[in-house]
Amino acid sequence: KGKRAFIAGVADDNGYGWAIAKSLAAAGAEIIVGTWVPALNIFESSLRRGKFDESRVLPDGSLMEISKIYPLDAVFDNPGDVPEDIKTNKRYAGSSNWTVQEVAESVKKDFGTIDILVHSLANGPEVSKPLLETSRKGYLAALSASSYSYISLLKHFVPIMNPGGSSISLTYIASERIIPGYGGGMSSAKAALESDTRVLAFEAGRKNKIRVNTISAGPLGSRAAKAIGFIDKMINYSLANAPLQKELSAEEVGNAAAFLVSPLASAITGSVIYVDNGLNAMGVGL
Ligand code: NAI
Repeated sequence: KGKRAFIAGVADDNGYGWAIAKSLAAAGAEIIVGTWVPALNIFESSLRRGKFDESRVLPDGSLMEISKIYPLDAVFDNPGDVPEDIKTNKRYAGSSNWTVQEVAESVKKDFGTIDILVHSLANGPEVSKPLLETSRKGYLAALSASSYSYISLLKHFVPIMNPGGSSISLTYIASERIIPGYGGGMSSAKAALESDTRVLAFEAGRKNKIRVNTISAGPLGSRAAKAIGFIDKMINYSLANAPLQKELSAEEVGNAAAFLVSPLASAITGSVIYVDNGLNAMGVGL
């Protein structure tokens, strides 16, 4: 029987979430996605207008189908958390049931269960500021959107995940090495995400036989990465210095994700898996 995957953090065809969706679809999984509320309209209308058709093509020539798109804002766990200014914001007012708890309830109602949970989202409002200049508010917002969002997703989705299911998130090596430019507490958020991956692997593994891993991906010129402003520099640095001197494609991360959530990886949990052309292994650039 085919597996069902919920992928949080898909809003265009450039990012890792989209590539992971494609690799999972190519392997036979049913795809449902969670899209950030403010990005929902343009994503849905672009899909409808066929703007992504070229990038929907799977290896067998068919087009990836997305069974359902849920509006999601992963910084809010339930309606009680949503402040007035967001409730009345016109980008949010057109959608409903987009807190994490409500999305999990909707998925349960529509599909019953899922097998795979993917977290491919991050946000740090002060990412372009050095850590020394980051405000408390900006730091906590980075942790809320990029780290706690994963705990919240797992907490609410584990009850509808089939035993033997699997979950992954995306992290970045700025968690453990100095990457100037990845500021605003985003490096801290990724460090938390990686540590949480281990603890959550223990808890979800013991409780529900669910595996939890994170992919430490190399640089990709996604929408989010372009917003940081230093992505071209990081891509060129990797090209010049990594053991494998080729541009990293999102598909390579998608394929690693498909492996990690498959039975081929049935003994892998609590791990940080590098999919970065080997750049993490270098001590100095050469
Ligand atoms: P992306 O722009 O495709 O994905 C980020 C997504 O997060 C967007 O769709 C955005 O709408 C969504 N999002 C932001 N705040 C949200 C919220 N509160 N609730 C729900 N969704 C929200 O960009 P990318 O780069 O593919 O990012 C995916 C993951 O990959 C992130 O965790 C990122 O940190 C990670 N990553 C990216 C690298 C890169 O070079 N692009 C390198 C290593 C990790």
